[in-house]
Amino acid sequence: MPTTRKILVLFAHPAYKRSKMNAALRGAVEGLAGVTVHDLYASYPDFLIDVAKEQQLCLDHDVLILQHPLYWYSTPAIVNEWLDLVLVHGWAYGTDGRALEGKIFFETLTAGGDATAYSAAGSNHFTLRELTLPLRATANLCRMRWLPPYAVLGVHRDLPSDQLTAHVSGYFQTILALRDDRIDLERAASLELLNSALGDLIGEE
Ligand SMILES: Cc1cc2nc3c(=O)[nH]c(=O)nc-3n(C[C@H](O)[C@H](O)[C@H](O)COP(=O)(O)O)c2cc1C
Repeated sequence: MPTTRKILVLFAHPAYKRSKMNAALRGAVEGLAGVTVHDLYASYPDFLIDVAKEQQLCLDHDVLILQHPLYWYSTPAIVNEWLDLVLVHGWAYGTDGRALEGKIFFETLTAGGDATAYSAAGSNHFTLRELTLPLRATANLCRMRWLPPYAVLGVHRDLPSDQLTAHVSGYFQTILALRDDRIDLERAASLELLNSALGDLIGEE
């Protein structure tokens, strides 16, 4: 019997009502058995994060996903506040801080710039794998199993509907496969992006 993992999506979009891509990705997985979508801006409009509640949510799940639009090559502000308050020494890291050990961690992100812009020769000069290194280091410090971001790029232009549908369906398949232990995690960790080669990662249902 395959393992069933519990997945927590920490969703951070300060303008959710205007969101297209994050809303579509969220909509694809919200309500799935084993998946909890936790909207940080909706829960904490004043940024007064309930640390005990957030830590318990983390403990209750096997996979932690930070879903957000890329803002200034980083995350919207509430994610930093969440990290600062929730991932404390002695709980998330340090000799006795082993609460997150072994959990899978990755970002689901959307970016205005396209794949060409996020390359050494492109206008942003750096790849997304490089720009997301601080969260990779955070996952490492907390002894979590890091995977590269599931990234939808080029959303400054409205994506053609077939591309949007393909991203949403790929995300749905990825979340199901993670939940049901049908994903090759070692291969996934070596990819540029989690969605660079989904067909090779996901096993049969
Ligand atoms: C304050 C702000 C900062 C942004 N910074 C970046 C950025 O650094 N790189 C980028 O590619 N897009 C950037 N964008 C574009 C957003 O990533 C893009 O609008 C978002 O991913 C669209 O997703 P949505 O349809 O869910 O809103 C930024 C947008 C805003 C409002």
